Amino acid sequence: MFNKSKPLFFEVPQYLLDLIPYPPGKPLEELEREYGIKNAIKLASNENLLGPSSKAREAISNAVSSLHRYPDGSGYYLKGKLADMLGISSEEIVLGNGSNELIDFLIRVFIRPGYEAISSNPSFLVYYKMVQAAGGINVVLPLSDYHHDLENIASAVTPKTRLIFLDNPNNPTGTIIHHKDFDAFLKDLPDHLLIVLDEAYIEFVKAEHTIKAVECMKLDKRVVALRTFSKAYGLAGLRVGYGVMDKEVAQYLERVRQPFNVNTLAQIGAVAALDDHQHLKKTVDAVWQGINFLTEKLEKLGCRVMPSEANFVLVDIGTNAETVYEKMLREGVIVRAMTAYGLPNHIRITVGLPEENIRCIESLNKVLNT
Ligand SMILES: Cc1ncc(COP(=O)(O)O)c(C=O)c1O
Repeated sequence: MFNKSKPLFFEVPQYLLDLIPYPPGKPLEELEREYGIKNAIKLASNENLLGPSSKAREAISNAVSSLHRYPDGSGYYLKGKLADMLGISSEEIVLGNGSNELIDFLIRVFIRPGYEAISSNPSFLVYYKMVQAAGGINVVLPLSDYHHDLENIASAVTPKTRLIFLDNPNNPTGTIIHHKDFDAFLKDLPDHLLIVLDEAYIEFVKAEHTIKAVECMKLDKRVVALRTFSKAYGLAGLRVGYGVMDKEVAQYLERVRQPFNVNTLAQIGAVAALDDHQHLKKTVDAVWQGINFLTEKLEKLGCRVMPSEANFVLVDIGTNAETVYEKMLREGVIVRAMTAYGLPNHIRITVGLPEENIRCIESLNKVLNT
């Protein structure tokens, strides 16, 4: 028998040893138990404030009896519905276990040790971590006044650059890319790389001057659009997202995709959610009411609030965010301290229901003033 105290003989590369895993949050019930609190509210993960659509729930319940079957590995109906909605062909769509998996596919296909991926800081942390996990070189550039600095990004491109990640709106700032800036940016870029426009929050955007990734992709083969059902569609727990890209790029991604990466309930729920226009509209309206409410109240508390086009706000609270986060947690209000994003005085608040937003403001007021 193998002796337990004997070391194993495998080599883990240094870039993996250096990688800090994405910090998982504890289940709400555990936090309540640990902190002795009740009725905690979670405004930390940019989830849908209204929950899943009733159409999706019904479709999922009806599909439970077929769970002994494998999922449709081609995602036939979901891709077909998306293709109709977006005016593209099914071959230009790749489905993923959340849009996170599309990020993973892109990195697995295009990044290997020695190749570079450009992203911004602060921005969605997963780009950075997955590039590092693949042994790629992260070129991380600061935002300029809370926006992606496209000029700086363009000048950082080298012959080794393969991917540029731009989330629009950006998480955690909620800021968007102006289409004029993007057009100028695209013109200067070479053709040995892909520009990945991550539109996880695009359904919330009101400003008309921003880029539409799918339209850009129709004109330019280098553009990849990523979308998700986790935010405006309220299906984060099902894990379903998609990428829209040139057919050739899609075929490369299909090579690394597991045959049944998007489960049956996720596919069926997503198709039904696309039909639930009312739920989408209610969600977006409620988010904007919440943004306006939170912005007004937070500014009255003396905080600086970034103008957001997503379902969260980034707030400069002018003091240590970790301490404030801990104190709010003890009150049963869970927000996100932005320390890991290099913003030690900022918290990010996901827009909640009206009563949750009120509670959040009351809690922050108490914490900042005691
Ligand atoms: C910018 C951005 N992209 C992608 C995702 C991941 O979404 P999904 O749940 O589809 O994996 C998130 C989730 O928070 C995000 O903020």
